[in-house]
Amino acid sequence: MGSWKMTFRGSIWVFLLSILVRIGFAQGEGNSIDGAALNGLASQWQNAPSNWVDFDPCGSKWLGVTCKKNRVISITLSSIGLEGTLSGGDIQNLSELRTLDLSYNSGLTGPLPASIGNLRHLEYFHFGVNQLSGSIPSKLFSPNMTLIHVLFEKNSINGSIPSTLGLVKSIEVLRLDRNSLTGPVPANLNSLTNLSEFHLAHNQLNGTLPDLTGMDSLSFVDMSNNSFDLSDVPQWFSSLPSLTSLYLEYLKIKGELPQALFSSSSLQTLKLRDNQLNGTLDIGTNYSNQLQLIDLTNNDISRITTISDGYNRTLILTGNPVCNQNTVRLYCNMTVSAPPLIQHITKMHHSTPYLPK
Ligand SMILES: *[C@@H]1O[C@H](CO)[C@@H](O)[C@H](O)[C@H]1NC(C)=O
Ligand SMILES: *[C@@H]1O[C@H](CO)[C@@H](O)[C@H](O)[C@H]1NC(C)=O
Ligand SMILES: *[C@@H]1O[C@H](CO)[C@@H](O)[C@H](O)[C@H]1NC(C)=O
Ligand SMILES: *[C@@H]1O[C@H](CO)[C@@H](O)[C@H](O)[C@H]1NC(C)=O
Ligand SMILES: *[C@@H]1O[C@H](CO)[C@@H](O)[C@H](O)[C@H]1NC(C)=O
Ligand SMILES: *[C@@H]1O[C@H](CO)[C@@H](O)[C@H](O)[C@H]1NC(C)=O
Ligand SMILES: *[C@@H]1O[C@H](CO)[C@@H](O)[C@H](O)[C@H]1NC(C)=O
Ligand SMILES: *[C@@H]1O[C@H](CO)[C@@H](O)[C@H](O)[C@H]1NC(C)=O
Ligand SMILES: *[C@@H]1O[C@H](CO)[C@@H](O)[C@H](O)[C@H]1NC(C)=O
Ligand SMILES: *[C@@H]1O[C@H](CO)[C@@H](O)[C@H](O)[C@H]1NC(C)=O
Repeated sequence: MGSWKMTFRGSIWVFLLSILVRIGFAQGEGNSIDGAALNGLASQWQNAPSNWVDFDPCGSKWLGVTCKKNRVISITLSSIGLEGTLSGGDIQNLSELRTLDLSYNSGLTGPLPASIGNLRHLEYFHFGVNQLSGSIPSKLFSPNMTLIHVLFEKNSINGSIPSTLGLVKSIEVLRLDRNSLTGPVPANLNSLTNLSEFHLAHNQLNGTLPDLTGMDSLSFVDMSNNSFDLSDVPQWFSSLPSLTSLYLEYLKIKGELPQALFSSSSLQTLKLRDNQLNGTLDIGTNYSNQLQLIDLTNNDISRITTISDGYNRTLILTGNPVCNQNTVRLYCNMTVSAPPLIQHITKMHHSTPYLPK
């Protein structure tokens, strides 16, 4: 009887001890898997942070790394002169990662690894202003992901935009601008109804101009300077309720601008230079009181209504037939200076990491 009790007590202790050991081991194990994955990545880099030396990113407080419960949740190595590729190690082993920011490292080259698509918790995916090349793997995106930012702007990425991107309904900011993307824009991107910023400018995308109907969270749209087919002024121009900035420059959009476009209540900036807009410009009287700039340089507009004449914010009609008439108007002799390259992102991009919500 007594020996049974002793054995029972003993086995409880053994049991408790094994749980404690397991918890400790699990934490250490997660941490060392993350450490191995980061060491693998860094093995292909020059200029990785100098304290990435052991296998303990959380315990040793590696620079640019944030941990939670002993797992790596954020890597922020923006603008630190990283050089090399993303081919080292098993990036997918960083299974708790939420933020991966390697932006503004112009020495970062090579392709985007498809295995990043296995990072189920990734939200902030910042790879802008590097020198990445090759195409965007379709396996990079899946319906289970909860990405919020996808920022690939100003790299050398080619090939077409994978339609799997349209499955990640959580995306709020999408920047693919200033790459060498070709082919059509997948039609299903218009199911990204949480998208607020949509940047596709300065690629060689072709096919029909994307239809943005129903993307009601859109605030900023720039699809300038692509190779889309000749297109009538689209219906969605005047149907996006939150639109503040519409940039569609150097495209082939033809026809007359609808007056309703100007009354979209949050509209601030409308940049439509170098298209084939024609007919009469009628801004109406009900234009958005937020409007700051309408740039219609180099179109085919032949008339402006008297009411539009009373519009007193910046309007640029240089290079339209309406300016050939005798009455020389102020808005016929103006140019806009080129905006800085990464104009819009500045408010979101800074050196502090995006902490997960
Ligand atoms: C990634 O995890 C797998 C499975 O746990 C392991 O076999 C592999 O060695 C890990 N890779 C690195 C670079 O740690
Ligand atoms: C998505 O998640 C669900 C459950 O959360 C899982 O059953 C399914 O296999 C996952 N799909 C993919 C493609 O990983
Ligand atoms: C993309 O660029 C790579 C070189 O970086 C080239 O090998 C490949 O053929 C290009 N792909 C396309 C679709 O243009
Ligand atoms: C879209 O945004 C709303 C409001 O922020 C949020 O509740 C919802 O979960 C988001 N949808 C997805 C698919 O993330
Ligand atoms: C249009 O994009 C090409 C690269 O695709 C670039 O070389 C050119 O300068 C851009 N044009 C304008 C007007 O921005
Ligand atoms: C789009 O461009 C690709 C080459 O980049 C070409 O093969 C395709 O025919 C073009 N499609 C259209 C609709 O112009
Ligand atoms: C003026 O524009 C608003 C949208 O900003 C619209 O709701 C309203 O009906 C318009 N009024 C007239 C008279 O067109
Ligand atoms: C505008 O251009 C279209 C063709 O793009 C033409 O059918 C229409 O007559 C033009 N309108 C005016 C007023 O010139
Ligand atoms: C435009 O005119 C309105 C009244 O007609 C005035 O309140 C506003 O200050 C003017 N804006 C500019 C930029 O001149
Ligand atoms: C247009 O502006 C230029 C200087 O920017 C000036 O020399 C020229 O006289 C102006 N033309 C008219 C018609 O105002």
